[in-house]
Amino acid sequence: MRRNFNTILREDFQFPQIEAQKKPSISVIGLGYVGAVSTACLAELGHEVIGVDLDREKVESISIGVSPIHENRLSELLTKGVESGLITATTDVVRAVAETDVTFVSVGTPTSEDGGCDCRYIVSAAQAIGQALQKKDDYHVVVMRCSIPPSTTMEVMVPEIEKASGKRMGSDFGVCFNPEFLREGTAIADFDEPPKTVIGASDDRAANVIRKIYEPVDENIIITSIDVAEMVKYVDNVWHATKVSFGNEVGRICKPIGIDSHKVMEIFVQDTKLNLSPYYLKPGFAYGGSCLPKEVRAVEHLANEIGVDVPLIKSLARSNDRQIQDAIDMIRVIGARKVGFLGIAFKPGTDDLRESPVLELMDALFSTGHGVCAFDPAIGVNTRVENQFEYVKNACPHLEETVRNLPKLLRETPEDVMAESDVVVVSQNNQRFVQLVVSNLHQVKVVDLVRLFPEPPIFTGYYGIGW
Ligand SMILES: NC(=O)c1ccc[n+]([C@@H]2O[C@H](COP(=O)([O-])OP(=O)(O)OC[C@H]3O[C@@H](n4cnc5c(N)ncnc54)[C@H](O)[C@@H]3O)[C@@H](O)[C@H]2O)c1
Repeated sequence: MRRNFNTILREDFQFPQIEAQKKPSISVIGLGYVGAVSTACLAELGHEVIGVDLDREKVESISIGVSPIHENRLSELLTKGVESGLITATTDVVRAVAETDVTFVSVGTPTSEDGGCDCRYIVSAAQAIGQALQKKDDYHVVVMRCSIPPSTTMEVMVPEIEKASGKRMGSDFGVCFNPEFLREGTAIADFDEPPKTVIGASDDRAANVIRKIYEPVDENIIITSIDVAEMVKYVDNVWHATKVSFGNEVGRICKPIGIDSHKVMEIFVQDTKLNLSPYYLKPGFAYGGSCLPKEVRAVEHLANEIGVDVPLIKSLARSNDRQIQDAIDMIRVIGARKVGFLGIAFKPGTDDLRESPVLELMDALFSTGHGVCAFDPAIGVNTRVENQFEYVKNACPHLEETVRNLPKLLRETPEDVMAESDVVVVSQNNQRFVQLVVSNLHQVKVVDLVRLFPEPPIFTGYYGIGW
């Protein structure tokens, strides 16, 4: 059970009396690693489950309570489910869907010839679901569990179901995308203690049906849109792959210079404030400052010296430059001639301009004849920018002229910058800048590099860098 530790109950709190309701019956299409585990675990929660697969051997195996795959405790739970009459299995997809309230889809999504996602099993499963729903009067919820590119649920699965059934999503049936986060080998334990439960839903009715199924194992269910939930699954796995490759590159550098990589990473992971935390993970502008660019360069240099290839670490500067170039392209496409900057240090609360990516933007716009002005609450004409430049002159010699010109570009207030510009680039998030942007949205175009608003304004003059 994943608990919500934020919930504090008053001592006199009375739990509402809820009428005992029959748990929805569930068909699980695709009895591979995901489907077989779901079948066993959903039955363990008290649901009647019909497992379905086109592979007769898997169906026969599940029917007698034997796991078709090697997975800790799976046979034990399947046997229990079959003996209690909660688990049955069939090759008849249409019948299984027609006889249940909810359908989980966990068919394979292998890599297609072009490297994308092969959706053919999803299409055939959706067609069978549609045929079943055609015969059914009751509301049904279809839960997509496959890992698929964003929009596949709505643009591939739903149209097939609607075409085959003649029914409409929303009124006749609901759809959810519920990503699977199990790890093979500990899949049953992960079902009982999920790292998170995410339900992307077509509507509240569908979300509530699926929420109730997971409530016994998770008090903290996350409800979102279907496309966000689809993307979460991909982002999770790319992140895990990034972590593995990063750890391995640390090992490749450490070994030849005689440092124990495990000792390094054991200390690294103890930092849950900056290293293993949400910090640095929000899409926004490029990294900069006196440390990150310098140290990435230094580690790359070290790897070169010892003859070690570290493609991931080497790719960081290129990725960062791409983010700067994207911002330059955004500003240029808007077509403004006078560009104002709110915030120029590499982050708020400092007057450190060393390798600030905002200076790169200013420099690029200068070179194309744009007018540039700027305000930063921590930087004034007395800030010793020349000294700072001395420190980074080998890293970014091209910025010398921009740094020299900086005092002339600075304005005393952000209002001055607003008044002088056709487009304002905001690189620091503070209330003063938010207010100013809100009150000038109709006069000045805004390039937001820091996500000023929880929900980005739908406004033609507003441009967010990664949203
Ligand atoms: N394996 C994992 O650890 C894991 C974890 C999270 C998500 N996923 C995702 O879940 C999905 C399923 O993964 P898996 O590893 O269980 O796949 P799998 O290949 O082990 O099993 C898929 C099953 O679907 C069956 N199938 C295909 N088309 C069918 C149809 N039309 N009707 C009935 N059955 C059909 C196949 O016969 C097969 O048994 C994939 O999208 C995968 O990316 C897998």
